[in-house]
Amino acid sequence: MNATIQIGPADRVFVLTGAGISAESGIPTFRDSDGLWSGYRIEEVATPEAWEADHERVWQFYSMRRHDAQLCQPNPAHYALAALESQIGDRLFVCTQNVDDLQERAGSLNLVHMHGELFKSRCEADCGELVFVDRNSYESAAQIPTCACGARIRPHIVWFGEYPLEMDRVMREIDRCDVMIVIGTSGNVHPAASFVHWASGRNQAGMQKVRTYYVGPERPLNAGAFTEVFLGKAGEILPGLIALE
Ligand code: APR
Ligand code: ZN
Repeated sequence: MNATIQIGPADRVFVLTGAGISAESGIPTFRDSDGLWSGYRIEEVATPEAWEADHERVWQFYSMRRHDAQLCQPNPAHYALAALESQIGDRLFVCTQNVDDLQERAGSLNLVHMHGELFKSRCEADCGELVFVDRNSYESAAQIPTCACGARIRPHIVWFGEYPLEMDRVMREIDRCDVMIVIGTSGNVHPAASFVHWASGRNQAGMQKVRTYYVGPERPLNAGAFTEVFLGKAGEILPGLIALE
């Protein structure tokens, strides 16, 4: 029998995804490209300092990523998570580090984007205006919209040095999961890289030990913390990996 991830009738499943789940859809991962995103250094486009130094350059970068992501389609790994949700409902919770919308487009509903969303923007001054859907491209400083309060509109992206979003909810879900499945993330960026340690190290009084699994073509930095590592491309192996009891 092939190895599988067994999910019992009352198990709660926490899934963490990273860039690797979208790789087969054609969205390049970060570290596989030597820290370069299509010729941009991460520090030049994905930090609050970069935004302060050059709004135009940062918007050009995110405009390009919007353009590229709109051309991509969900792959079998995204669909496998959506199918699992339709089978076990809200016993599945997905936290993604990805800013693309491929998981929603595959049908996932119970999903948190801890690093923000590519197709949303917000006021840089946090004046209370809501985050809004935005699929536009801004190529020059003159095109960058302003909020009603007068401040500039920025991408709804968590940059290096900023706090991840919805961490209270994420922590609650880690605390009550029975199975954790981590897919396509190199284990370099915290706090996400610590989730597996939090799940397996939490207070076990009266609870079964959390089973933790990694799925991806190479061992992540934190591979040693998992119950089991399944090596392979997510789109190829995830659809056949999960077995409901
Ligand atoms: N299926 C599954 N995993 C894959 C696939 C695939 N087809 N192809 C590549 N991978 C794996 C790689 O082996 C690697 O471990 O995806 C991982 C991608 O790692 P990173 O590029 O480091 O991406 P990620 O871990 O998601 O980065 C975390 O860092 O730059 C920031 O905010 C950004 O959310 C991002 C965070
Ligand atoms: Zn504002």
